[in-house]
Amino acid sequence: MKRVWMLLIGAGLGWWALEPPLPVQAQDLAGDAHRGKSVYEQHCQRCHGAGGWGDGPDALGLKIPPANFHRFITQMKSDEQLFTTIEFGLALSPMHGWRGRLTDRQMEDAIAYVRVLAQRGR
Ligand code: HEC
Repeated sequence: MKRVWMLLIGAGLGWWALEPPLPVQAQDLAGDAHRGKSVYEQHCQRCHGAGGWGDGPDALGLKIPPANFHRFITQMKSDEQLFTTIEFGLALSPMHGWRGRLTDRQMEDAIAYVRVLAQRGR
């Protein structure tokens, strides 16, 4: 009888040890804001503006205004969400997808820089 208990406890411990860890919270992407700055200046600034206020020189000609990264609604979005928008773009919007033009790393870096801009005041 003692043996059976030992087996049961052993199996229980084994199951506990093998159980997958708790789901990890969506991690921030590991972009580099320094590298992201040059990606942003080259590809994004003309619409989103140097400060990320959505007031770049090309914004005037657009029917749909570029996102202002200082808005709460953008700040609430996860890096993953922004990545998807940058990767695939938004339907019927001047914000086209960048997949094929930028590498994953460049998009991650651009997000890191957008986060920095969003913290800055005017
Ligand atoms: C031709 C102008 C234009 C360029 C260039 C551009 N965007 Fe956009 N972007 C927009 C517009 C317009 C929107 C808003 C789209 C909408 O609301 O439908 C937008 C939206 C976004 C959003 C979504 C914000 C949110 O709250 O969901 C992100 C993130 C973004 N742009 C990042 C970038 C990055 C990074 C680049 C450079 C790689 C870039 N954009 C280049 C016009 C542009």
